Amino acid sequence: MSDHLLTTRGFTRDAAVRLLDLAEDMADTQQRQVKKLPTLRGTTVVNLFFEDSTRTRISFEVAAKRLSADVITFSAKGSSVSKGESLQDTAQTLQAMGADGIVMRHPSSGAAHVLATSGWTRAGVVNAGDGTHEHPTQALLDAFTIRRRRDGDDSRGRDLAGLRVVIVGDVLHSRVARSNLWLLTALGASVRLVGPPTLLPAHVEGWPVTTGIDLDEAIADGPDVVMMLRVQRERMTEAFFPSAREYARLYGLSVARADALPSTSLVMHPGPMNRGLEIAGAVADSPRSTVLEQVQNGVAVRMAVLYDVLAGERA
Ligand code: NCD
Repeated sequence: MSDHLLTTRGFTRDAAVRLLDLAEDMADTQQRQVKKLPTLRGTTVVNLFFEDSTRTRISFEVAAKRLSADVITFSAKGSSVSKGESLQDTAQTLQAMGADGIVMRHPSSGAAHVLATSGWTRAGVVNAGDGTHEHPTQALLDAFTIRRRRDGDDSRGRDLAGLRVVIVGDVLHSRVARSNLWLLTALGASVRLVGPPTLLPAHVEGWPVTTGIDLDEAIADGPDVVMMLRVQRERMTEAFFPSAREYARLYGLSVARADALPSTSLVMHPGPMNRGLEIAGAVADSPRSTVLEQVQNGVAVRMAVLYDVLAGERA
């Protein structure tokens, strides 16, 4: 059991494999006609979303309900209170109401860590995305999806040793990229970050990655997985590239680029996609794309995470 899930940084191979195996168990239960388990009965989970979300919010809600928790979803976006104050007040209110788990998405990097260590609440905290910092459940569902495509029904106990992953695009603003690079490398994969120089973080020393600015070169290398990132316009305060057309030309995963990949290479995207910008619609809808599997697997992975954080002493 873990107290919180805030980051994938520091995950060991075995801890990661254990969580993915637990997600396999959860996925098995989701094949049954009755999908609901009694596991978290009597537990209250609050989804606290200070930022927009479709997939992640709904996925956590479904996951908690499938485990029989009581779920309250609170969209706090647009609150006029200053962020620190609002987070403290909200957390203390939720504590007073007896929340056992808080799943939080927040625009500020580090917010989940603050919540977990502040003493404002004793709830188990799951980071559902904090600013540009981390999005650990997305990385777990991505790893789960890759492992299933690689090893099928036989994936339990396996890591991703030898897998070569290229993460492409707006790495600078991407919490998905950060959580993925820690988790994938813990599982034995190698990670290359590719994007325009303006959208690659300035300091990646200490990150277990290589970087590059040439997508065609990365594709010619025949990676096993190409993970496309959304261009996060809402986080851009200046012009990071000349035009959408220019971005698509240099960094979009076009049909021609996808065709240049080995036939077994996977194409991933966390969603929401800008079709025609970072990924061509035909590539997103092609058999090598895992976009919808990622969404589907998200439920089982979040069931595993909620179980891990909330079962045991707290439940
Ligand atoms: C991601 C996010 O919100 O960080 N989406 C998601 O959770 N599925 C990626 C993104 O917004 O680009």
